[in-house]
Amino acid sequence: MKSVGITGLGSSLPENIVTNRDIANYLDTNDEWIVNRTGISERRKAEEHILTSDICAEAAQKALDDAGLKPEEIDLIILATMTPDLVFPATACMVQEKIGAVNAAAMDLEAACTGFIYGIATGQQFVATGMYRNVLVIGGELMSRIVDWEDRNTCILFGDGAGAAVLSPVEDGCGIMTNYLGSDGSGLESLYVPAGGAKRPTCEETVKQREHFVRMNGSEVFKFAVRVMGDASIKALEKAGLGKEDIDFLVPHQANIRIIEAATKRLGLSKDKVIANIDKYGNMSAASIPVALEEAVTNNRIKKGDIVLMVGFGGGLTWGATVMKWNKD
Ligand code: ACO
Repeated sequence: MKSVGITGLGSSLPENIVTNRDIANYLDTNDEWIVNRTGISERRKAEEHILTSDICAEAAQKALDDAGLKPEEIDLIILATMTPDLVFPATACMVQEKIGAVNAAAMDLEAACTGFIYGIATGQQFVATGMYRNVLVIGGELMSRIVDWEDRNTCILFGDGAGAAVLSPVEDGCGIMTNYLGSDGSGLESLYVPAGGAKRPTCEETVKQREHFVRMNGSEVFKFAVRVMGDASIKALEKAGLGKEDIDFLVPHQANIRIIEAATKRLGLSKDKVIANIDKYGNMSAASIPVALEEAVTNNRIKKGDIVLMVGFGGGLTWGATVMKWNKD
């Protein structure tokens, strides 16, 4: 098996910013409540003409540039999203066309906010076995299209964005050390969109009942998240033969600063080892981990040789963690 690492990173964030005050102008909420309960100050909201495939293609192109690869050198595109351009075909195919990855296979992967971790674990297998050399893993979401902007319980939480990573063979002893993935379908109704699929096809009634928007049991998801962030992190570290003390950086899914703080406490980490940008972007679902990772690498916080733990959770319910020895200068 080949060692596999991240050899390029890129992100795309829509320019339009929606602040807490913008939302408080029309909904019964306020900046203080949102900041105290979630850590979020603002989020991005793409203009109407922008598609998930547009922001994913931009992030992907930047990741290719960072890796020094041409689009035709990509063998596979895995796109983690729950806000695809269309029900089918896969949005990965639209990205394939937009970036000119003429030799790539393409598929979408749905694991909600854990999608990027699932994507990394999947892509790694193709490169490790030698079936493919370069795999593009993208997490991209236009959450603004599926949140109910009249529901203060959910609309304050989410934002739009995309992050991409190129997976390629790297020197032995570097790169991805292990992945740990989990799921529990019994928690489906904690976080879901009721209609629009085969179970409840779109009709006048589903539109009237606002069933095409995210429904969430916030406190259930909160308890689940705190539990699995810690458990998944510890299990992944154990699989890698490491302990909590070996972590140089934690890159957690950015859903709520209080969830991140609870996971940080459980792992006994100091604040300076935790990458958090939720204040600026909110919860970008599958995009949140790659965008945070890219920022930390660009700002020279994460450096070659650092042990990086990425951990996520989301709808499904799903969860997952990846441990890496950072392989890139
Ligand atoms: N502004 C003001 N008040 C609000 C708002 C708001 N935006 N939203 C809710 N409230 C009110 C509630 O109505 C409630 O009022 P009540 O007591 O009169 O009924 C009160 O605030 C407290 O509500 P709680 O739900 O108890 O607040 P909590 O501290 O649990 O915070 C939150 C809510 C932020 C949603 C929290 O539960 C959370 O972050 N949960 C996890 C969500 C999450 O991570 N989701 C994404 C998962 S990843 C994926 O796959 C997409």
